[in-house]
Amino acid sequence: MRGLDGKVAVVTGGAQGIGRAVVDRLVHEGVAVTIADAHPEFGPSAAAEVTAAGGTAWHALTDVSDEEQVAAAVEGTVRRHGRVDFLVNCAAVFIMRGVNATVDEWRRSNDVNIMGQALCVKHVVPHMADRGGAIVNIASISGHIAQPDYVVYNAAKAAVANMTRCMALDLADRKIRVNAVNPGTVWNANNERFHRDVLGMTRENAEKDPEIGGRHMLKRVADPEEIAGPIAFLLSDDASFITGENLMIDGGYTAM
Ligand SMILES: NC(=O)c1ccc[n+]([C@@H]2O[C@H](COP(=O)([O-])OP(=O)(O)OC[C@H]3O[C@@H](n4cnc5c(N)ncnc54)[C@H](O)[C@@H]3O)[C@@H](O)[C@H]2O)c1
Repeated sequence: MRGLDGKVAVVTGGAQGIGRAVVDRLVHEGVAVTIADAHPEFGPSAAAEVTAAGGTAWHALTDVSDEEQVAAAVEGTVRRHGRVDFLVNCAAVFIMRGVNATVDEWRRSNDVNIMGQALCVKHVVPHMADRGGAIVNIASISGHIAQPDYVVYNAAKAAVANMTRCMALDLADRKIRVNAVNPGTVWNANNERFHRDVLGMTRENAEKDPEIGGRHMLKRVADPEEIAGPIAFLLSDDASFITGENLMIDGGYTAM
């Protein structure tokens, strides 16, 4: 993809799941990556694996809801590489709660899933200002549909979807493009554990289930790499006239 090689990215939540696939894809495209993740073990091990394979990555222990930690991760990136070109806002907490959610649950979900993305944008923008840049926020199909007892999570993802449009408008004159991707169900380690331990399901069972795989036109769930590819595209110069967009990467889920 055009315009990725030699650039510098901050990927929040890059230690696991979709974020980890984004790190691997960007490194493959020649991007140096900061893995800004709150996980004290998987963050360093992800960075070590990338480095051992010949890529450039480091782990910044970061809770994205803490502005000082976000600022430190961005400053560390600039200290190492002298620039930031891309931000991928992947980190999230999954507080799947309905109308009985507690104030603490609301606050934690909104602090990480909404404000965390906004704080990362706030701190990378000054470093992009001279030459422009690109940002991808991860929302979800959940931000566009109703799901049982998902009020808290879905409200946050809906906020991300619209926050993305507002940011795109505010940052257009600084040549910073802002887009969101909205994945359907993605089969990563944490989702596999949830399906196995809580629902007693294998991937094959989940894909055959009318409420999971059956909700996607393609009658299956996604691999993290299938989300990472479109994210790399949105960051690249091949997407130079795309901003303020919410791209559905959902196997046709929301089109039905
Ligand atoms: N998995 C899915 O089916 C799916 C579907 C739609 C959208 N999404 C979205 O994709 C993104 C990635 O999801 P995933 O399933 O790969 O998640 P995951 O649980 O596999 O990984 C999330 C990562 O975020 C990190 N993280 C959590 N809280 C953090 C915080 N406060 N600060 C910094 N890092 C933090 C975790 O340590 C972890 O490494 C999320 O925004 C999620 O809402 C996922």
